[in-house]
Amino acid sequence: MKKMTVVLVILGLLALAPAAVSTQIDLGVPSKTGIVASSSDLAADVGASVLGRGGNAVDAAVATAFAMAVTSPSNGNIGGGGFMIVRLPDGTATTFDYREVAPGKATPTMYLNAQGEIEVSRIHQGYVAPGVPGTVRGLAMAHKKFGRLPWKDVVMPAVALAGKGFTLSKSLASQLNSEIKGRTDNNGRQGPSMKPFPASVAAYGKPGGGDWAEGDTIVLGDLSKTLAAIATDGPDVFYKGWIADRIAEDMAAHGGLITKQDLATYAAKERAPITGSFYGYDIITMPPSSSGGVALVEMLNMLEALNLQKETRQSVRAIHLIVEAQRRAYLDRARFLGDTDFVQVPIDRLTSKAHAKALISTILPDKASSSEELGKDILSSGKLPADEPLETTHFSVVDKDGMAATNTFTLEGGFGSHVVIKGTGMILNNEMGDFNRKPGTTNTTGTIGTPANVIAPGKRMLSSMTPVIIAKNGKLVMVTGSPGGRTIINTVLHVVLGVTAWNLTGREAVDAPRWDHEWMPDRVTFENNALSDTAVAQLKAMGYDIVMRGEQGSAQSVWMHPQTGTAFGIADMRSPDSKASKGGS
Ligand code: DON
Repeated sequence: MKKMTVVLVILGLLALAPAAVSTQIDLGVPSKTGIVASSSDLAADVGASVLGRGGNAVDAAVATAFAMAVTSPSNGNIGGGGFMIVRLPDGTATTFDYREVAPGKATPTMYLNAQGEIEVSRIHQGYVAPGVPGTVRGLAMAHKKFGRLPWKDVVMPAVALAGKGFTLSKSLASQLNSEIKGRTDNNGRQGPSMKPFPASVAAYGKPGGGDWAEGDTIVLGDLSKTLAAIATDGPDVFYKGWIADRIAEDMAAHGGLITKQDLATYAAKERAPITGSFYGYDIITMPPSSSGGVALVEMLNMLEALNLQKETRQSVRAIHLIVEAQRRAYLDRARFLGDTDFVQVPIDRLTSKAHAKALISTILPDKASSSEELGKDILSSGKLPADEPLETTHFSVVDKDGMAATNTFTLEGGFGSHVVIKGTGMILNNEMGDFNRKPGTTNTTGTIGTPANVIAPGKRMLSSMTPVIIAKNGKLVMVTGSPGGRTIINTVLHVVLGVTAWNLTGREAVDAPRWDHEWMPDRVTFENNALSDTAVAQLKAMGYDIVMRGEQGSAQSVWMHPQTGTAFGIADMRSPDSKASKGGS
């Protein structure tokens, strides 16, 4: 008994280093007239100016997204896909799924070589890597339903940025230089980049050669022309007009799969959100083809059933419970989740409180569970390293009336497939890698081969992107989301826990240390310096494999002050060019 008490006391002590103490309380950038938080300062300013011109949250979100396709080319895009959730001031909410789909010629084993192994090089770059892009259709769909300003007015700021040029930040100059010159890994191997693709180098290289430097102006003439066509002629020019022609021609010329038919038949989908409740808060999040909403609600249900709130925040005991919830939700993600237009996913069961109760019954009080034991029904042989990259972007918008838009979109890896379609300035995604590429192989390194997410023509690849809106008693609380591949769901979980279970301000919740467990590989990664040596020792003694890593995610958010109702834009400074930009006056 005494021993148990000692264990619990130790587990109750603070395990994580406190956030930096400041004498002034920083809540973020306040606004009663609307706010946009984005990892691109220039794009946040575009969104804010649209709010200032009488646009609503969706107008601003669409304008921010198009601007990011110019100012943040590693992840902002018109050649990729993503998700947007919109919540109206009356509390109703809907989602837009503009995830890419597999081309008509895609097959379940298209990325396997003659030996049956995944050919990673064909997933990471080149003409076979992209799915059919969804961004332009998705943004147009959201705008058609909710936009107040004319379409042209929300696309034109991006046209101007690309055509007149914009000033490179230090971070973007350095990213572009690695893209153009190529990257080599520690073993001297060439990593994916634009180097093998002349049209890409022509579009994004410095005219006349040499390195880009901070402060240089980059002009993207072809991209400006493409965006101008979208602004003037609408989304059909992308899917059925000359832009579709250029994509299909380039694909045919380089062994790619996307055809005019694939583009003409692409459809964005409006879907009902996944909703959950957590300690009286309403959680509004994304259904499949994102896995994020289901997994997030599962984790919150488990943590509520475990009464997380009675634990000390950042204690070893709280970390233990959160990691065990993460482990179990990610296992369900691997078992069940895929595109619901193609496979049956038991969403209602997975997101039920009863399922959470069943899941937590296997959590031990002071010992790590075994991922292998819990998931032995889906584990198979084979040891292929999982290789999901970490490049995506999230932005959040709230307008003066309290309408909220939360949007995560991506090219998958940084600069996607690294392919620029000749004459368009547009970078295509490499999203096909989000499918289960080796059917039947699910292993301890994190490779998943379960049937729900196997490639099929027209199917959406499973995503982890988790835009989310939190409300309570009908009032907006927080708008958030993050990049980060599979870590996204856990990053969003931490932010949600911060403002709900732990009663933090939005700023504190975004700044707080994050950690990640994804069922497989069976290890917990913590942000560097987040965990004390004592806590590491205690967690290791409980059986956890602990890895320290760099920053996790970039949760560009808006938090509503519970007393004053003022919106606070919160730039997550884990991304160097982030900004919360105030709209209107
Ligand atoms: O949809 C997904 O889950 C991934 N393609 C997202 C990739 C990602 O987040 C990389 N980002 N930082």
